[in-house]
Amino acid sequence: MMDAFESFGLLMNNRIVRTPLAIASMAGTVDAAYVLERADHIGVAFIGGYSIDQRTMDAAKAICAEGGRKEFLYEDPVEELKKQMAHMKTSTVVLGLNLRGSTPDSFSTIAQSLGENVVYEVDAHCRQPAMVAAGCGEHYLKKPGELMAVVRALKSENVTVSVKIRAGISADDRLLARKLWQSGADILHIDLMDFGSAKLRQIRNSCPLMLIANNSINTFERMREMFSHGADVVSLARKSDTHTLSGLDAAITRYAREEGWYNSPKQLCRGGDIRALTFCCMPVKECPLLPTLTRIDMPKEAYIQMKMDTVKGSPLENGNQTCFGSLAWCCKTSSPCMFRDMTLKQLGLSKKEYMRLKHDLSDTIMSRIFHDVPPDESC
Ligand SMILES: Cc1cc2nc3c(=O)[nH]c(=O)nc-3n(C[C@H](O)[C@H](O)[C@H](O)COP(=O)(O)O)c2cc1C
Ligand code: SF4
Ligand code: SF4
Repeated sequence: MMDAFESFGLLMNNRIVRTPLAIASMAGTVDAAYVLERADHIGVAFIGGYSIDQRTMDAAKAICAEGGRKEFLYEDPVEELKKQMAHMKTSTVVLGLNLRGSTPDSFSTIAQSLGENVVYEVDAHCRQPAMVAAGCGEHYLKKPGELMAVVRALKSENVTVSVKIRAGISADDRLLARKLWQSGADILHIDLMDFGSAKLRQIRNSCPLMLIANNSINTFERMREMFSHGADVVSLARKSDTHTLSGLDAAITRYAREEGWYNSPKQLCRGGDIRALTFCCMPVKECPLLPTLTRIDMPKEAYIQMKMDTVKGSPLENGNQTCFGSLAWCCKTSSPCMFRDMTLKQLGLSKKEYMRLKHDLSDTIMSRIFHDVPPDESC
């Protein structure tokens, strides 16, 4: 597992994530047995959705009775979830429970019974009419105040909280992400529908939450597109077969070992998210850097100081022969440059190590940008 931490540096619920690949829930299908069959190829799994109170359990029964869809049915959700968790006990897969509940109390009660060893994922995604009428799933995206109350209730039990949403339903996904951050959520799991990476980038630029991108991410190209626009993890549901998962796992593991930063952003001027400030030059010309600094309310001088302070004492401080006198301002390795490469050679630094250092710089930049929880903003 330390190898995996070297490659991806990912922790979820205080556990190392072996690979940034997750199984997303499918009601009636994705349970512990489903996950264990695929466990060698994934890092995280959200089993469920499981209904956790009478209203949602009745809704699940109604959906099954209509004959259209499968659901997990039981009389005692705690007993069922404990059974599922017991199956996963020795697995290296980080486990999340995708839960349908209609009140904050339903969620806090379940967390009191099941404890801290799982991630609690609020299903704010389901659009089955019976579930929405029961006051969960997509209902929460129309009533963000209720969703925030659920998140706060779970956080008061000291557990890790993910929220699964469908993009384009809330009045403003960026604002929703900021409100979730403000309410204490840890993870935002986004079904991007047809909005793609542009939507993901907007959300990445709005909050520091761990982001899981979802919807038709079934090829390495699509996976990398999501990683280069802000995803920390990608998830699959319908194509979560062993063949697809093992191919993606192998490809991203190889990429991380070769390149040093598995979810490196595109440069800002090529459509990258704000993590790409790590690759930006000094603010000396008209380019996307200046409007970005304005948007995040960071004066040019503060940006320069922040980068210089962060690289002080690290190999990135060097670079007399580079455009701005320090590797702090240098481009991504995918942009060819003999001056940067000459400096790296003199320092005995591989391109992979350079990218790792740029990753560290980006993490510091992100924590500086998002160091304060925002004041109350209404959705
Ligand atoms: C049959 C089926 C059941 C699903 N059940 C759930 C669920 O219970 N909770 C949830 O958050 N998402 C549920 N989803 C949504 C998936 O997790 C996922 O967001 C969606 O299928 C898009 O991802 P994909 O393209 O990888 O399948 C379900 C999807 C399908 C196809
Ligand atoms: S500062 Fe350089 S890398 Fe950043 S947006 Fe401008 S030209 Fe692109
Ligand atoms: S020296 Fe090369 S890598 Fe560094 S800023 Fe100039 S062009 Fe970019």
